[in-house]
Amino acid sequence: MEQTFVMVKPDGVRRGLIGPIIARFEQKGFTLAAIELLRIDRLLAEQHYSDLRTKPFFGELVDYLTSGPVCAMVWQGEHAVENARALIGKTNPVEASTGTIRGDFAMDIAGNIVHGSDSAASAAREIGLFFGKQPVSSHPLDLYASEQ
Ligand code: TYD
Repeated sequence: MEQTFVMVKPDGVRRGLIGPIIARFEQKGFTLAAIELLRIDRLLAEQHYSDLRTKPFFGELVDYLTSGPVCAMVWQGEHAVENARALIGKTNPVEASTGTIRGDFAMDIAGNIVHGSDSAASAAREIGLFFGKQPVSSHPLDLYASEQ
């Protein structure tokens, strides 16, 4: 079992897409391991996208990410990183296939509504950044077990 970090970005939250995005992950077969609605500050946005800091769009990307609340989530399942990237679709919504989240809900690369980790190492780093103070269980199914 693998975990990946997913974030509904501010325009996704603003447009009421937390629910539809969560539904896609649930329908695919992922298990929700952690979720938090938060307003991120510039430092966290810069740390999250530190690999892009030399790109010309970096400032606008940080402005965008800090423009309103985001919904940070950890989803767990087999090949979680790759399965989440397939569900989310290509970075540029123009190229994202219909049936993917970006293909169905977004128009522009600067507002592609959702983030998903691009590797297991990125997932571990990003989960640490967002949920470090409240460790994410690597056995979230235990949380559900007592309901049976
Ligand atoms: P990146 O990590 O390359 O893509 P992904 O989100 O699919 O892992 O880029 C991070 C975000 O930066 C991307 O979701 C949208 C933004 N971005 C731009 O605004 N312009 C660009 O030309 C690129 C490549 C990304």
